[in-house]
Amino acid sequence: MLSQTLGIIDIQIYFPRYYLSQMELEKYDKIPSGKYTIGLGQTSISFPDDTEDINSISLTILDKLITKNSISLKDISRIEIGTETFIDKSKSIKTHLMDIFSSSTNKDIEGVTVSNACYGGTAALLNTFNYLHSKFYDNKYAIVICSDIAIYNKGPARATSGCGAIGILFGKGSCISIEDIRASYFINVYDFYKPNPKSEYPVVDGQFSLKCYLESLYECLRKFIEKGGVINYDNDYFCFHCPYSKLVEKAFYQVKCFQIFNGMFYGKNLNLKNKVCDVKGKFWELDKEFQEDVKKEFYEEFKLKILPGLFICKNCGNLYTGSLYGFLLSIILNGNKFDLVNKRLIMFSYGSGLASTIFVLKVNNAMYKNIIMRNMDIYNLFNERIKLTPYEHELILVKKEKMYLSNNYIPSGKIDDLFPNTYYLTKVDEKWRRYYKKKISNNPHFSITNQNKIFFSENPKNKKIKPQNDIWKGFYNKSILERQLQIKKLYQNVDLEKMKNGGLNLLRADNMVENCIGVLSIPVGLGLNFKINSKEYIIPMCTEEPSVIAAASSAAKLISKNNGFNCYYNNKPYMITQIHYENPFYLNEIESKKYLNNIKNILKTNKKNIISHCNKNICNKMFLRGGGVKNISIRIISNQFFILEIIVNTCESMGANLLTKISEELSKFLYNKNIIKIKPLMCILSNFSIYKTFTSEFKIKTSNLKYNEIDGKKIAEKIIKSIEIAKFDVFRACTNNKGIMNGIEAVAIALGQDVRAIEAGIHVYACVEINEENVFYSNYKPLSSYKIITENNESFLFGTLTVPLCIGTVGGAINSNEIYRNNFQILNNPNSEWLGYIMCAVGLAQNFAALRKLVTEGINKGHFNLHAKNVAIRAGVPDDFVKDAVDFMVKKNGINEENAKEFLRNIKK
Ligand code: HMG
Repeated sequence: MLSQTLGIIDIQIYFPRYYLSQMELEKYDKIPSGKYTIGLGQTSISFPDDTEDINSISLTILDKLITKNSISLKDISRIEIGTETFIDKSKSIKTHLMDIFSSSTNKDIEGVTVSNACYGGTAALLNTFNYLHSKFYDNKYAIVICSDIAIYNKGPARATSGCGAIGILFGKGSCISIEDIRASYFINVYDFYKPNPKSEYPVVDGQFSLKCYLESLYECLRKFIEKGGVINYDNDYFCFHCPYSKLVEKAFYQVKCFQIFNGMFYGKNLNLKNKVCDVKGKFWELDKEFQEDVKKEFYEEFKLKILPGLFICKNCGNLYTGSLYGFLLSIILNGNKFDLVNKRLIMFSYGSGLASTIFVLKVNNAMYKNIIMRNMDIYNLFNERIKLTPYEHELILVKKEKMYLSNNYIPSGKIDDLFPNTYYLTKVDEKWRRYYKKKISNNPHFSITNQNKIFFSENPKNKKIKPQNDIWKGFYNKSILERQLQIKKLYQNVDLEKMKNGGLNLLRADNMVENCIGVLSIPVGLGLNFKINSKEYIIPMCTEEPSVIAAASSAAKLISKNNGFNCYYNNKPYMITQIHYENPFYLNEIESKKYLNNIKNILKTNKKNIISHCNKNICNKMFLRGGGVKNISIRIISNQFFILEIIVNTCESMGANLLTKISEELSKFLYNKNIIKIKPLMCILSNFSIYKTFTSEFKIKTSNLKYNEIDGKKIAEKIIKSIEIAKFDVFRACTNNKGIMNGIEAVAIALGQDVRAIEAGIHVYACVEINEENVFYSNYKPLSSYKIITENNESFLFGTLTVPLCIGTVGGAINSNEIYRNNFQILNNPNSEWLGYIMCAVGLAQNFAALRKLVTEGINKGHFNLHAKNVAIRAGVPDDFVKDAVDFMVKKNGINEENAKEFLRNIKK
């Protein structure tokens, strides 16, 4: 038995900053849309310019692995590299890596480059495990680097390009060890090879290579079982070599066929069971109908256990030697949801030509979560990538074709475009010697030591362009084209083309609602100047009402000058779903009490089982994500009715459909099991998300509130009085809260949230009192509150707003319109907690802006100046002349339809 404490400690990834969209490549290659995105299952391709080669990429990942783990250079005794990207037929990449050790006295480091197509990384990994378990192991660290640049000649194979490097750190005190049975399959074939020394491109027989891959998988599995290897199909995770996603899908179903043919599983699908008796063979040789049955039977398992592993492959393309380990890293990054402790990972490695092996890794302890922590920056790095067009990609490849094997070469790619801390090629001299440098960054956003902390941080681009006001100042005076250009520059992934017409085509609209006859557009604007918990935000807001966005930006500007908004989350991301019952004994007080007590007792005794029934059978996927049912309780609301309330953690989603499903199915379960022996009146979620309440607050020096001749403190006092009025008068409270909703709803609409649910929840919150036991109706109140506080002899206006927000960042309507995704990108893809902060801050800004104006110059001046454009439109002024019409009305000192019509008559003349 091999020692469990020796093995993998960390895994890091590097990919170049440039990428290409597969969707754009489909258009560029003039092939049917979906061929690369659906046919291959790929999203984008990472690729480097001529500033990076295989040596520099290997230097970058080695440096990253060492820095992230803070290990001393003298504590490393082995580095081995797997690659199939060669520059030199003799000199190994490893020798270049020794440059990192130039200042260290440690040169006692074994290992060189090993190669066999994509298998080189696994050869290096198995060698390293052998080393750890040998008498030569000296208790120091060992490192495996798998790096490659996968490029193809022009043609369909180019869509399977990719680039990236994986670094794996080995040593004592590891979290992942290797088991002692493994099986290989090696034969001599020509499926993919690189025979032409003058070209970097391989010769590929695509169909044959696919067959070789699947056959190797089958043969390795067969041999593995023959050698006594065990696979626990329910608990084990599979990790596959991953040239493109669709092949992995096939590989997974191959494994499932293997499971079936070995009598280990027949599936719930009867059709499948009968077929098994007369169909024998390998997946790719089976009849199409049977293949479809297998896919149907195991699709859910594929989604749950395999799809998360494709994350890196989908986004970077083929990493060749690193691809299996990119899959492993993707599974680990999802390890918070899976809980991988004590789980086995069945690893299948394949290299053309061919070499293949199945081996088993085991996660021994929760320290694997450190790998997740050390990779927290990965999402930011993906966000920070730069998209090039297929044409630009092709130009780079042509340039690289010319440079390949050249001497006296100086790369022309942009160093500025590299990620910080990337090594790059500075020149190839007359003797083909290569020289490298590291791009050093002062930007703390990228600094390696800070990277763990910035997972949920604000868009780094905003940080770079600090202070925000410098570039956003007077944004509203720019033309719409200039604004769009500014956004395009800052957010490469935002598709402004889609934002031109509302993002919905008729077909999609028809799929969304009943009796559809068209679509309706609402303007999207940007709320500027927001600083929320020290992070700067530009906030998409969608509203038809003039002055709302200006007001929010104006208030945010003042608040940000005073340290910004402080926001917090009051509870957990829990939602409530209900089952409503009528008490059958409500006419008889004694019987009624007895009945309810009995139900309470039964529920109390069975609570644990009921919760685990829900999590296992009703909302298992949510449970596996870390959510699921957390509690159940009974609330007696009157003599006649009682409600069973189920508290559910819906993680990142709002969860409406799932919540209702839980209520419906649980009510049947309780009835069938005789726990509650009556049928419910109804089952439905509650949109009053009392657990998901958010608070935003700010503190402004009252002296900063000064307006014309009115003292700032006086204005603060008037704002407080306006809230006092609202406390006594529901008519004013309603309008105060409408001002808050101006902001909250505009953000909610821009981000595809369920606005009706949010609004209903907030208005209920405005008229209840809540204690630990119950919720009571009270007067309808203003949601915001203000007070004056004094600190160090300085007085401040302190404003605060608390609201429940049933929001989500996945599910619901979010995927129905790509503009929602665009808007999420402008916010740098916040999770639902941050989304809550943002919405709550905008609500408070909006309220403060309105109150500030109401108690000073009145709302009309600011509001109606902006409303003037609407007046002109209403009078029939053509869009091109609206601005002139407003100037005309302002000059005439009257913003009204009559003046607008006069303007119209003048221009007609
Ligand atoms: P201002 O104080 O003159 O603004 O406000 P400023 O010139 O000092 O500019 C400050 C920042 O505001 C600017 O920064 C912009 O970001 C933004 P800069 O670019 O200079 O660095 N800003 C604008 N953004 C876009 N378009 C503009 C614009 N002007 C300034 N044209 C403002 C002018 C209209 C904002 C102010 O008068 C205001 O806040 N009015 C309140 C308007 C309001 O609340 N509208 C909501 C509709 S009314 C309603 O439904 C609610 C209500 O009933 C609620 C209640 O009763 O409680 C009132």
